[in-house]
Amino acid sequence: MTESEGVGFHHVPVLLKEALEELRLFPGMRVLDCTLGGGGHSLALLERGARVTGLDVDEMALEAASARLGGFAGFRAFQVNFGEIAEGDWMERIGPQDGALMDLGVSSPQLDRGERGFSIRRDGPLDMRMDRRLDLSAADVVRDYSEADLRRIFFEYGEEKQAGKVARRLVQERTRRPVVTTGQLVEIGESVLGRPRPGKVHPATKIFQALRMEVNAELERLQSGLEAVFEILVPGGRLLVMSYHSLEDRCVKQFINERLGRCRCPRGTPICICGAKPLLRARGKAIQASPAEIEANPRARSVRLRVAQKL
Ligand SMILES: C[S@@+](CC[C@H](N)C(=O)[O-])C[C@H]1O[C@@H](n2cnc3c(N)ncnc32)[C@H](O)[C@@H]1O
Repeated sequence: MTESEGVGFHHVPVLLKEALEELRLFPGMRVLDCTLGGGGHSLALLERGARVTGLDVDEMALEAASARLGGFAGFRAFQVNFGEIAEGDWMERIGPQDGALMDLGVSSPQLDRGERGFSIRRDGPLDMRMDRRLDLSAADVVRDYSEADLRRIFFEYGEEKQAGKVARRLVQERTRRPVVTTGQLVEIGESVLGRPRPGKVHPATKIFQALRMEVNAELERLQSGLEAVFEILVPGGRLLVMSYHSLEDRCVKQFINERLGRCRCPRGTPICICGAKPLLRARGKAIQASPAEIEANPRARSVRLRVAQKL
């Protein structure tokens, strides 16, 4: 029995109805699911006659999704980072696509398994690698980064106001004993940011988020992934991106805005000389989850779905 079958891989797809509507499915439509996870979105797509190419960096997710979706003739999956598909022959292997979906971040099983090191609630090794083939783990960051670098990542990726204090405490702590578990990191976070309160987000959440983003180079991969995935889309193809925190959403919004073809001429220029051309059209506002979905699936609380269509 594999790990994924044994423990069960359960992830409830977020904004499923909205994503299906926004993709404007047609029979035989080629959809690139850049973040296959448990295959929840992909299953719904395949059931509606789409052909799905699924990508994920996590072999546990790929194994679980392949076991679930392998029976569909129109399904195939690859273990690759969507931020790296412009390299090698990935673009040819994947081929042109009519739609693409990115459902960013980690899946529920990644979060819930202590041994993956993402969880605040379950003690485990400080790992946090989505792709376990990578060398750098959160324990390496915590052990090797300077206080200034730790402060920078807590501040930039975690938007943690007390980044400096947490970095200082962490450096003090690691001189006394190696910091190698999520439980130790939670203790350090709580010693600066306070104890968790019922019904509130855990005070160390932003510290965990920042480390995860650093370990997986999430913002860099998102930027390169958006560019590559946009290129693989055929004209008229639709790009859907679901983000779960403001830094990701900002990156997606900026990617879209830069391609809307807005005139960049200096104010007062009598006729446009910048030659800006629209490369896409976009849905104005991000789609958020309904109160009913948030009630049923608290993960949907922070989601923002942005939609663009390549011209
Ligand atoms: C939120 S889950 C996706 C859940 C999926 N939509 C479902 O319905 O089951 C995100 C998945 O994307 C993967 N992932 C995150 N960043 C990635 C990247 N840059 N390249 C490939 N996979 C990535 C994670 O390993 C995780 O399995």
